[in-house]
Amino acid sequence: MKGLAPGSYASEILAPAAALVPVPEAVELQVAAAAMLQGMTAHYLTHGVRETRPGDSVLVHAAAGGTGALLVQMLRAAGTRVFATCSTPEKAELARAAGADEVILYTETDFAERVQQLSDGRGLDAVYDSVGRTTFDGSLLCLRPRGLLVLFGQSSGPVEPFDLQRLNRGGSLFVTRPSLAHYTATRTELLERASAVLDGVADGRLNVRIGARFGLAQAAAAHDALEGRGTTGKLVLIPA
Ligand SMILES: NC(=O)c1ccc[n+]([C@@H]2O[C@H](COP(=O)([O-])OP(=O)(O)OC[C@H]3O[C@@H](n4cnc5c(N)ncnc54)[C@H](OP(=O)(O)O)[C@@H]3O)[C@@H](O)[C@H]2O)c1
Repeated sequence: MKGLAPGSYASEILAPAAALVPVPEAVELQVAAAAMLQGMTAHYLTHGVRETRPGDSVLVHAAAGGTGALLVQMLRAAGTRVFATCSTPEKAELARAAGADEVILYTETDFAERVQQLSDGRGLDAVYDSVGRTTFDGSLLCLRPRGLLVLFGQSSGPVEPFDLQRLNRGGSLFVTRPSLAHYTATRTELLERASAVLDGVADGRLNVRIGARFGLAQAAAAHDALEGRGTTGKLVLIPA
């Protein structure tokens, strides 16, 4: 698949040259490794799936996670009012530090109701939902008429099949389920997105938070940490 090199839990891998990108001198390699997947994902979600416009109001779920925190930063840089959800007060601080204007603890509060209150009943232009099963219904309820739900992950499990008439009832809503591979499908697009992310890291516009580093032999512990929902930012595996 163009733009991705699977099998990277290894000290060395053989990758097609077309899948490689240059890393600016100023970016440390572990930070570059941490930035690529989540950074390019945040980039295509905000500059590909939907062009972000100044004055938009947008919700990012799991905003203290790796992709979530980068999404918040890119949306704020584009002049968006950012609503964010996360599960704990500690994560809420990280979401605020990333630039979120309104942070909702979706484990304690009905986030759709709170979004409607905070937006004076107008609803949002877009919702970026990586959580899936537990948030999908509420995400639809957050949207203004003709708003867009971008479902790009399923950290809580897959979304059940649903009746398309709900999009009509919600106000002619749109839903998309995109993947990074389809938004880095050409070499030109891959290089554009990679350099937008890595240049942003190099000049300090983008902050990539490495939440923890694990030796390659501790890969299982890294996966346990992800499943345990306690991580923030990006986990990095260091080959021996
Ligand atoms: N479509 C694409 O192109 C694309 C690209 C990259 C990643 N993704 C997907 O996007 C999602 C997020 O990726 P990421 O790398 O940003 O992950 P991450 O940093 O691990 O963030 C995931 C967050 O999801 C939240 N969450 C909610 N319910 C959860 C549950 N039951 N179990 C675990 N976490 C739960 C947690 O935040 P709270 O504790 O605050 O709820 C957790 O921190 C994943 O599903 C990934 O597969 C998709």
